[in-house]
Amino acid sequence: MSKFDLVIRNADVATESSRFSTDIGILDGKIIALGSNIAEGEQEIDAENRLVMPGGVDSHCHVEQISSSGVWTADDWFTATRSAACGGTTTIIPFACQHRGQNLRDVVKDYHDLAGPKAVIDYAFHLIVSDPTNHVLSQELPALIKDGYTSFKIYLTYDALMLTDRQFLDVLAVARLEGAMVMVHAENNDMIMWMAERLLQAGLRAPKFHAVARPMLVEREATHRSIALAELVDVPILIVHVSGGEAIEQIRWAQKRGLNVYGETCPQYLFLTEDDLDKPGLEGAKHMCSPPPRDKENQEVVWKALEDGLFEVFSSDHAPYRFDDPDGKFKAGKNAHFKQIANGVPGLEVRLPLLFSEGVAKGRITHQQFVALTATNAAALYGLYPRKGTIAVGSDADLTIWDTDKKVTITQSILHDAMDYTPYDGLVVTGWPITTISRGHVVWDDNTFLGEAGKGDFLPCDTPPALSAERRPVTKFDPVTGELG
Ligand code: URP
Ligand code: ZN
Ligand code: ZN
Repeated sequence: MSKFDLVIRNADVATESSRFSTDIGILDGKIIALGSNIAEGEQEIDAENRLVMPGGVDSHCHVEQISSSGVWTADDWFTATRSAACGGTTTIIPFACQHRGQNLRDVVKDYHDLAGPKAVIDYAFHLIVSDPTNHVLSQELPALIKDGYTSFKIYLTYDALMLTDRQFLDVLAVARLEGAMVMVHAENNDMIMWMAERLLQAGLRAPKFHAVARPMLVEREATHRSIALAELVDVPILIVHVSGGEAIEQIRWAQKRGLNVYGETCPQYLFLTEDDLDKPGLEGAKHMCSPPPRDKENQEVVWKALEDGLFEVFSSDHAPYRFDDPDGKFKAGKNAHFKQIANGVPGLEVRLPLLFSEGVAKGRITHQQFVALTATNAAALYGLYPRKGTIAVGSDADLTIWDTDKKVTITQSILHDAMDYTPYDGLVVTGWPITTISRGHVVWDDNTFLGEAGKGDFLPCDTPPALSAERRPVTKFDPVTGELG
């Protein structure tokens, strides 16, 4: 009998910290041996001349979720995880989204019912907290954290989801007390609403005015405010989907002060600009997301922050709404103004190839940085490391085998989500994951999807390690414990 279920021979492996040649022996979904000339496997893959990296961990994507304006994402759990797998991602962490009045435990159960039968790859959940009642704060969140839901996203915009600063403080306090990471959608809602109202009064309704209503300073203000609130509570936070220079300045300022402030950015802030929102007719809607894409100068600042280590994670913020579909971007009708068009762009499948091509192949970031940004750091930040996000004995056998020279023209027809467009249409990238392995099973190979619905497992997350950082109290009175030092 073979010692391994699967052996990958002659792998040129890149992890977050090293590069080495090895064979990889896999049994029961785990990596159990690394070394040369290991014993035979029942199945063997020769990775000669190929690069092998950990499967991607996409820690920000919206799957089978209803948006704040009542539109369902185009992807369900099958199409989203299929698309992820075909793009080299082996773990996703989407959201279980509480709408006001909902019991969080019921919300989590509903999302599990959707995910369980359809997920192709493994998954965890962040909780979106939009209604932090006393019961949610004192009972539901602590119990859910114990069950492995150890990260929350909170919104500072969108009327249906946003928290007041006071509510945000309450959520931060629970996160510190019980051990959870808080992710923040940082945009100032009143500024946006005020601008949008005036734009619409002036008859300015086209998709491009979405970006005019949400200038960079809207994000800068909310980023700074989030940092200050987290500092008061003395707890780490992560600012999600950072779009450009002014928000980056705030994060850099906080990090220089030694605060535990993390940042995430996404492909749309490297590859799209606000000019894309000004395409003819309604085409600009294909590029609408929040915060909006900025300009070339800001793209460059985002690149620099990826290169110099300011950003911890590179996620897709996959929020797919079809263009030509009455249940998609234009659910409010083709005459909709910019505020009525569903916000979000797809990106699960192209996240890794885009960053590899422009980042690694063009020499901006190293292979190690690529792995850290796309897999390891997210796994570590949200309590899944070292099970996920690396190649090591004992880790899950989640791997991608890359043809680093392969040139691919991105078009919707080659992708595996349920969308009818990609905002990256026509872009030519160098390097593509040609094989994806999820817990020892080949789910994508030679342009063929081989995964199966229901094979993905739910991953309860451990306490995020950032929560054990040394305290940096702002006052003698600890507002979380009630103690006077
Ligand atoms: O425009 C976006 N990003 N839509 C998805 C929801 C969110 O805020 O992440
Ligand atoms: Zn957001
Ligand atoms: Zn999002």
